[in-house]
Amino acid sequence: MRITVIGSGYVGLVSAVCFAELGHEVLSVDNDHAKIALLREGQVPIHERFLPELLNRHRGKRLSFSTSVREAVDQSDAVFITVGTPQSETGEADLSFVEAVAREIASAIHDFKVVVEKSTVPVRTCESLRKTLLLNGARQDLFSVASNPEFLREGTAVTDFLYPDRVVIGVDDQVSASLLSSIYRPLTDGSYYRQENAIPLTGYAHAQAPIIVTDAKSAELIKHASNAFLAMKISFINAVANIAESVGADIEQVCEGIGSDSRIGRKFLNAGIGYGGSCFPKDVQAFRMVAEQCNYEFGLLTEVMRVNTEQRTRFLRKVRNALWTLRGKRLGVLGLAFKGDTDDIRESAALEIISALLKEGACVCAYDPAAIPKAKEVLDENNMSYAADPYMAAAGCDAVLILTEWKEFAQLDLEKLRSVVKHPILIDGRNLYRPADVARAGFVYHSIGRSVAIPESMIFDGKSEATRRESAIRLATIPGWRQESGQPLQPAS
Ligand code: UGA
Repeated sequence: MRITVIGSGYVGLVSAVCFAELGHEVLSVDNDHAKIALLREGQVPIHERFLPELLNRHRGKRLSFSTSVREAVDQSDAVFITVGTPQSETGEADLSFVEAVAREIASAIHDFKVVVEKSTVPVRTCESLRKTLLLNGARQDLFSVASNPEFLREGTAVTDFLYPDRVVIGVDDQVSASLLSSIYRPLTDGSYYRQENAIPLTGYAHAQAPIIVTDAKSAELIKHASNAFLAMKISFINAVANIAESVGADIEQVCEGIGSDSRIGRKFLNAGIGYGGSCFPKDVQAFRMVAEQCNYEFGLLTEVMRVNTEQRTRFLRKVRNALWTLRGKRLGVLGLAFKGDTDDIRESAALEIISALLKEGACVCAYDPAAIPKAKEVLDENNMSYAADPYMAAAGCDAVLILTEWKEFAQLDLEKLRSVVKHPILIDGRNLYRPADVARAGFVYHSIGRSVAIPESMIFDGKSEATRRESAIRLATIPGWRQESGQPLQPAS
């Protein structure tokens, strides 16, 4: 099959490379000449596992690059639109890039094409796409439109594409249905998984990727509803975490209990500082606007967004409680990206929290395995610096903060970390550790939805005056602690 993919951002580039991996002739198009030049040389502009390998496997063979929509459309059977759909000022998806591309496609249709929207778009976009193609001169009998939403996560986008939970194709005619089905056939008949050099993934649940064929509007709704549901799961568990924290329960144990119900599932039940990224914040808001236009008040989504924003504010309060005042305090921050395994900082909760800490007068030294170059473009204040590893970021700090769920941050050498910090306070916004382990390493450990863990040496047991004095002396060096007369020493929260 000859495929054109218009837009070579995260979704477009991964899709183009993976379509080539499935054996198709692919043209990847972008109007950014510099980006196309880089891709032609085999350089990948984003941090994505397996992408460099696949790009170089197919570049110059089944995969080529172009800046001309016309040329590419002319040479293809299927045209996928994967341009950006940013949030407009009103909260709706801004579809102007999709419309502009549709106009260009229309003028290049001379024989039959299936035009497929793959960007995240509101329901009924297929209808508008069809109208725009007609208005701009495409002959009605020379095209059909379809929806093929993607469910790729940054960081695992290539394996998400090649090993999907499901392929959704939204079609209103038989031609689009059979063309899209044959594009994905190597996955849906399982032949790709038997290839010797297939990108590997252990633990995939299916021998053949399931395919769901719907009408176009339903496919469009599936995309928005899926992202909104996942965001809701995260806000729900964060709300429960706040209760767990108040009553002294442990949210991780609660999650295990809830998540083992197969109707609920354990995934996306990780409490933390809230969701970010280029998808969930924008898509939840856009879906709420879609509902509003349908005269339905989707209050549930309003609450999902509110809980998400509040989660960041609550984390800041936690930092203040642990440190008392922030002015002049030095904080070692681990994580800048909106989640692990990516260099993407769009709508990153980590960045928002760092900005607030800097505003309150703290000095921040941050480390992230991939996102430092991008963070430097937006966070360049005097009291902001960057380190080459987690221990350098933590050196001489009043507290260490974990803000992104990189695997590397879950495997720190806590003894080593303890030896470089000024005060042993670890505030974990991603619950990467078991509290007892961190306390055993000598840290006061604050996390989400769990009690503060305190090293044994710092707990006053009330038995001996010597221990009491010793504990008080140790605790006096740690801000954010209080002792009421006759009571054990307590964190000040
Ligand atoms: C998300 C969806 O997961 C994809 O299925 C979808 O295709 C994509 O959006 C999109 O619409 O293009 P992505 O934004 O890459 O993918 O990231 P996720 O892995 O979903 O994480 C989103 C945010 O939620 C991150 O900030 C992450 O830290 C947070 N998160 C995730 C939690 O706070 N808790 C969790 O349990 C899971």
